[in-house]
Amino acid sequence: MSGPAPKRGRGHWGSQVGFVLAAAGSAVGLGNIWRFPSMTGQNGGGAFLLVYLLCVALIALPVMLLEISLGRATQRNPVGAIAAVAPGSAWKALGYLALVTGLGILSYYSVIAGKVLTYLALYLRKLFIGEAVTYSGATLEVVVYFALFLVLTVLVVSGGVQRGIERWAKILMPLLVVIMAAVIVRGLLLPGAMAGVRWFLMPDFSKITPKVVLNAMSQGFFSLSLGMGAMLTYGSYLSKKDNILSCGTWVVAFDTLVAVLAGFMIFPAVFALGGDPAAGSTLIFQVLPKVFGGMPGGVLVAIVFFFLLCVAALTSTVSLLEVVTAYFVDERGWSRRRSVWSIGLVALIVGLPSAFHLAGISPWQSMTLFGKTGFLDIMDFVWGNLSLAIGSLLLCVFAIAVWGLNRAADEIEIGAPAFAALRGAWVFFVRWVCPISIAVILATKLFGLG
Ligand code: TRP
Repeated sequence: MSGPAPKRGRGHWGSQVGFVLAAAGSAVGLGNIWRFPSMTGQNGGGAFLLVYLLCVALIALPVMLLEISLGRATQRNPVGAIAAVAPGSAWKALGYLALVTGLGILSYYSVIAGKVLTYLALYLRKLFIGEAVTYSGATLEVVVYFALFLVLTVLVVSGGVQRGIERWAKILMPLLVVIMAAVIVRGLLLPGAMAGVRWFLMPDFSKITPKVVLNAMSQGFFSLSLGMGAMLTYGSYLSKKDNILSCGTWVVAFDTLVAVLAGFMIFPAVFALGGDPAAGSTLIFQVLPKVFGGMPGGVLVAIVFFFLLCVAALTSTVSLLEVVTAYFVDERGWSRRRSVWSIGLVALIVGLPSAFHLAGISPWQSMTLFGKTGFLDIMDFVWGNLSLAIGSLLLCVFAIAVWGLNRAADEIEIGAPAFAALRGAWVFFVRWVCPISIAVILATKLFGLG
């Protein structure tokens, strides 16, 4: 399929490097530095890492290539892409699921990002007025920083594809890796740190349960921004000259590197300083201040680190907002400004209960569902785990049954001649390995078959 002609004014990346950086910017974020360590800590350390790496290589990477190729072939947002391939079919619902999921994730993700912003502000105050760093968690503070972060996201996205997104990702992501390396070295030098390294790297196979496998697989989708059309939308800004195979693989490799580095940043320090690896979503906020506290120049390192983490989170929330925005701009003819501010407002309203959870307000903090406690954790499970897995599964089925895997493979091969050799394997993975394993993992956890 040659795909519909791109609409005028949609914009393309200035270069293939622009796509890789922006897609890596979308992928690398709180998912790597906040969610990955807390998941690893709660799901058995080395066992989780092993399952995670397998899921990324065997399930997420093939899905990544599929999402990017559908985006480039159709030059559309998720809803438009599906409508372009299967006009008037019920598959449209998959596109809408993507939009709702994006909004759901954006809402609570911005709350955590607001917490990161709070820490940045606390360390700046420490530097300039010597005030001690204590996170108050007061309602007003949580809500204000959450709203501030959403406004930042809205401002970047309203700037448009190139100026808005590309510029941010370019210099700052490599810098994040550098500062993480410094924090890792500091953590490894602490007495007792090796126990943490061992715990993170040595799999205890008895810890691998259906819950661990579902969490690892979903963490792969979450971390790589898959299953809700983010990579599809970014792929729609690629041109036929660009190499989907190398772009996709590069993004997966970089994102996985950052997640593993985050593990090395957190777990040696947890063991050395006597924390609980299973502390959950507060883990990094418990550990990092302690590490910075005992580090020479720690306040400055903390400021640079939290600043870069804010930027990493911002390039991720930008991609979440961009997907939903592209729909309203392309399909509904809304202006960019109107779209971003409206969606931002909805995300603010939907995110408030998550902010109240973080601020310790009942019933938001104490409610339970699916074995999760608190509104934010429930949202994270529903949208970040279930919905992304379901979205990825349906995308595979859509490609098998409607679009055609040969068309998808043809699309990847344009601009990536080397893909010819891998084509058979990729088709096999997307036809069999990905859908069956996602379905089995979802079913075993949800219906307790395992
Ligand atoms: N991948 C990002 C992270 O790791 C979060 C994110 C951005 C995302 N866009 C997404 C997750 C789309 C799922 C789908 O922080």
